[in-house]
Amino acid sequence: MQITLTKPDDWHIHLREGETLNRTVYDAARQFNRVMVMPNLVNPITSVDKAIAYKKQILATLDKLIEQHPEEAQNLAHFTPLMTLYLTHDLAPSELELAKASGIIHGIKLYPMGATTLSDKGISDIKKLAPIFGRMQELGLVLQLHGEVTHPDVDIFDKEKVFIETELAYLTQTFPHLKIVLEHITTEEAVAFVLNAPKHIGATITAHHLLINRNDMFHKGIRPHHYCLPIAKRKHHQEKLLWAATSGNPKFFLGTDSAPHAQHKKENACGCAGIYSANDALAYYAMAFDKVGKLSLLPDFATRFGAQFYGLPVSETPLVALLKQTNLIPESLPLTQQDEVVPFMAGQTLTWCTQ
Ligand code: DOR
Ligand code: ZN
Repeated sequence: MQITLTKPDDWHIHLREGETLNRTVYDAARQFNRVMVMPNLVNPITSVDKAIAYKKQILATLDKLIEQHPEEAQNLAHFTPLMTLYLTHDLAPSELELAKASGIIHGIKLYPMGATTLSDKGISDIKKLAPIFGRMQELGLVLQLHGEVTHPDVDIFDKEKVFIETELAYLTQTFPHLKIVLEHITTEEAVAFVLNAPKHIGATITAHHLLINRNDMFHKGIRPHHYCLPIAKRKHHQEKLLWAATSGNPKFFLGTDSAPHAQHKKENACGCAGIYSANDALAYYAMAFDKVGKLSLLPDFATRFGAQFYGLPVSETPLVALLKQTNLIPESLPLTQQDEVVPFMAGQTLTWCTQ
């Protein structure tokens, strides 16, 4: 069995920087037409100038990869990184005008301070940013939310739900026309919120949140490679996410949140949050959709709905074929000269692969 789809887009990915780009850009460009590049670098992308420089770094890596893989040149050459800005309390409203005019910035990412990897320069008080949100609303700029509260008393499994009830409720009530993507949703509360919201509010869904629930993190021992943020929730939440992703509702679209960390930083007494799935992203999604008999809905979720939400042309780049055949995920992949990355479901056999 085989399905073909127009080369999809990934609306949420972490490519990192420097040498790591050799791995991340290669994996992303093989499968995706465009990717929305998250800005949480060690030196975060807080200005348009930084985004321009970062995009150049990514495209220079792409050129090198095309030279190294001439047989894949045609496929890799289509790849376009879409850039985002990291929202800080210091962002000037004038930077928003520049972002809008740049043509390369497609979203402003809000990390609550301390919520996740490299979020220490994030937001401590959302209400202080009212002038920024007001201007974004006027300019039609998309706010991309890491939707978790950071208060230490809130249980880790409730952080998304509480964010929706408090911060997101404030944002949508105060800025009713602000375009928002609730990133990497993990709960039935998030699905319900997005379903009931106007159509300028959407959500990305990762492959890993469709394929695992919190039990998998503790299957016969602690599984650091299943640890990410927002953390995987109970099975009924996983089922609701699968339902949403395969519902044909255009508010839900593909965002892998593929986020590599060196193996030793995951297999550690204090392991980092992040799952690397870019190596075979489409195969993971195909497995999840096939599990519920909804493969026919994958092309819209992967190719059409995200582009429509962002007001970009729907991908027309050549087809990607997915085949139903066994596909052994490697135990690890080179990340840099020194480090390996352990991909999602390493050592397991998937039932789908990309041709
Ligand atoms: O698990 C995660 N890893 N969640 C995030 O929000 C960030 C990401 C990363 O950058 O490693
Ligand atoms: Zn992310």
